[in-house]
Amino acid sequence: MFCESKNKSDLKFQNLKIIGQKKLKGNIKVSGAKNSSLVLLAASLLTDENLTLFNVPDLTDIEKMKHILKTLGVQLNEKNDFLEINSKKLHLCELPYDLVNGLRASFFCIGPLLTKLGEANLALPGGCKIGARPIEEHIRGLKALGATIKIDDGAVQATIKNKKKKLQGANIVLNCPSVGATETLIMAASLAEGQTIIENAAREPEIQDLCYMLNKMGAKIFGAGQSRIIIDGVKKLYGCSHKVIPDRIEAGTFLIAAAATLSSITVSPVIPNHLDSVLNKLKEAGSKITIKGNSISINTKSIKAVNIKTAPFPGFPTDLQAPFTALMSIAEGKSIISETIFENRMNHIQPLNQMGASIEVRDNTAFIQGVNQLRAQSIIGHDLRSSAAMIIAALTAGGCSTIEGLEHLDRGYEDFELKLTNIGADIIRVLKKNNNSDSPLDLNSTSQPTKNFRAA
Ligand code: UD1
Repeated sequence: MFCESKNKSDLKFQNLKIIGQKKLKGNIKVSGAKNSSLVLLAASLLTDENLTLFNVPDLTDIEKMKHILKTLGVQLNEKNDFLEINSKKLHLCELPYDLVNGLRASFFCIGPLLTKLGEANLALPGGCKIGARPIEEHIRGLKALGATIKIDDGAVQATIKNKKKKLQGANIVLNCPSVGATETLIMAASLAEGQTIIENAAREPEIQDLCYMLNKMGAKIFGAGQSRIIIDGVKKLYGCSHKVIPDRIEAGTFLIAAAATLSSITVSPVIPNHLDSVLNKLKEAGSKITIKGNSISINTKSIKAVNIKTAPFPGFPTDLQAPFTALMSIAEGKSIISETIFENRMNHIQPLNQMGASIEVRDNTAFIQGVNQLRAQSIIGHDLRSSAAMIIAALTAGGCSTIEGLEHLDRGYEDFELKLTNIGADIIRVLKKNNNSDSPLDLNSTSQPTKNFRAA
């Protein structure tokens, strides 16, 4: 088909054209984890020495985080397959609303800034399409560590009032196992005076990755991956070299795409136990799963309806709820999918119904009657994971679908359609000319082409 360029400056005007019902076959290389990379970038503020990160994915969310670090005085040196970061010239500055709100994870800089510089000023991140996403657990924990925090007119001002400008270790019990709050508090406590114990901590693999890297930098963190984390504060953290873990959500999305298209693919590298809950559900739904070292193969001949309830790790991840709902929409029988983490994460239901699915939503629970086949449609993706769900639905549908809203997709999936076309999907990225016509992307039409890629 076409040779094209993906240009991140005009994602709102790009569409994917997908001709469905092609079988997928082959291997997919899984990128580094977005959510790990974001917090590891924030953790780079904790040392004056060089930090080298391997396996950081090329995503718009990561670009935004790099921009925020640069605003704070951090030097970033991008090499072929690694990123060198130096925060020696880190300085205080107020992170404005556009930056913080464009990337919620940027708020997680508050912990490192406060513990390193004794002060942090950030705009308050707003809610987002999947829910209100409050930050009171971050704030309560930082206050327990001795910070004085004022929230005024949409801005958070955090300072340490004691003479030494040092946070003090404390016992903190989180009201909910928030991933972001656990990460904020681990980073803040790593340079605090004394011991901090976080109870009801989140246990996600990305938190384990953060603790692993911080310990390489000289931190003393015990219990990563458990709900009780102990942090003995140290005076200084050092540089290190670290490889980001593979993205379990990306891997899970491709496995679900393979199941939905009754295909047979392998994803690697992965850490298979990060995907246990997802693999169990795929097996229950009729897929054959084979794990060999750091790869997972899936072979699907039929799809049975199963029920899902999202939960904090090691439960079924909320980030794969939308893709799994797309799979269940064409399963044999009835399934019930309950979203328990975010209050507004059912954006994919209406478009799925437009494509011929039969789904009713009540109180964040989707009641699905599987249908034989979906039909192609023009669909707008409203958030990152619902866009992935729409693409999976389009891969199964008869005819040619158009998916808009690629600014969401490209936040969190590196070369999504390229990876799919390489294993047999028929997808092409086109530049939307006007309301009625699309044209394949023109290499010269926009300012900063970032890479070339081939569509099938
Ligand atoms: C992270 C992930 C996101 C994932 C989510 C849950 C990153 C960059 N993002 O988001 O992809 O979907 O974990 O696995 O790592 N909550 C409160 N008060 C707080 C903080 C959170 O009530 O102070 C609630 C939230 O509203 C939500 C739940 O806790 O209902 C989970 O949120 P949290 O774990 O904090 O998610 P994030 O860290 O924002």
